Amino acid sequence: MKIRLILNGKKIEAEIKADTLLLDLVREKGCYSVKRGCETSNCGQPVLSCSVLAARADGHEVTTLEGLQKESEEFADFLAREGADQCGFCSPGLIMNVLAMERELVKPTMEEVREYLAGNLCRCTGYAGQLRALEKYLNRKKEA
Ligand code: FES
Repeated sequence: MKIRLILNGKKIEAEIKADTLLLDLVREKGCYSVKRGCETSNCGQPVLSCSVLAARADGHEVTTLEGLQKESEEFADFLAREGADQCGFCSPGLIMNVLAMERELVKPTMEEVREYLAGNLCRCTGYAGQLRALEKYLNRKKEA
């Protein structure tokens, strides 16, 4: 089947199978920030491309980290400064969710932040560096 969508601001057409996952489609189109993880929809990303059929994106706009490079750089810098990006596998999902959280929650407490990001798992860091980076990132406007 043929679908049409807007991927990171560009109109695209794709010939897909009925069971093609959105994750596979966007990776095929070069969006490698989107990762295959547990495939159980537990990561809590705003759109779970690992369990959404690409056919559902027909006629919609899809944004991956590749489409948010400028916005994502600032938090990525905080992660790097806190040594919170080891293998980096989880970083794109974490960054996407932090950007989504900023749009949804007004002045969240760290408890609300932890709850919002509970599905973002990391095999490497133990989360302390990520939380330090997050706290500094969220407080950056107070310090400016
Ligand atoms: Fe490796 Fe998070 S840095 S999984």
